[in-house]
Amino acid sequence: MNAPLLQPDYVPVQHDTWSTLYRRQREMLDDKAARLYLDSLDAMDSLTEATIPRVDAMTAQLQEATGWGLEIVPGLIPVDDFFALLAQQRFCTSTWVRRPDQLDYLEEPDMFHDTFGHVPPLMNPKFAAFMKRFGEIGVALRGRDEHVLALQRLYWYFVEFGFVEEQGMPMAFGAGIMSSYGETQHAWTLRTDLRKFTMEGVMSTPFTTTEIQTTYFLIEDISEVIRDLNAWYAAL
Ligand SMILES: [Fe+2]
Repeated sequence: MNAPLLQPDYVPVQHDTWSTLYRRQREMLDDKAARLYLDSLDAMDSLTEATIPRVDAMTAQLQEATGWGLEIVPGLIPVDDFFALLAQQRFCTSTWVRRPDQLDYLEEPDMFHDTFGHVPPLMNPKFAAFMKRFGEIGVALRGRDEHVLALQRLYWYFVEFGFVEEQGMPMAFGAGIMSSYGETQHAWTLRTDLRKFTMEGVMSTPFTTTEIQTTYFLIEDISEVIRDLNAWYAAL
């Protein structure tokens, strides 16, 4: 077992980049993001505009709300490790922050994506329960590539790029949207053209990480996603 990674200290320009990203994105999301996301973000005093957040403070707040915590990782990790951490209610985050000239485009997720995008929904018990179950099923299906791919598609179209319905309106939710100014603008223009979420639909729709999204799914009720995931797993 490797020693746990520690979060570095940051220089002022990095905190400034964080504040710029946060302020710009929070304003943009005000009338576009789901309350499921925004209410949690606004409830997190460990994740604010002021400075780059501390991983241990976010973990403490998540622990209290839903029992979740964060694990520092150097970057993208093998999918089996990722599933295993989710099953233990641990979400991975990097700790590097993009440069000021990278506000709008990154090849690999940085800490703004991993925390601003992914952490707030983990404060929500229903979403947190989904993520744990998703991890458990991922662990159980280790090495069964076709099924792992289906799970990765579910993650992509729900956790990264999903819309959820609130009061009859499609609202942006996925972390890939929440953490990207350009993606929010783009996704919002397509909100009238969403595909209705079905487990079969997302699991059979390929995705690419290198091009802007053209397909988004609308989830009517996130409790149904857990139910449908369990049904899919039980039928394998
Ligand atoms: Fe992500």
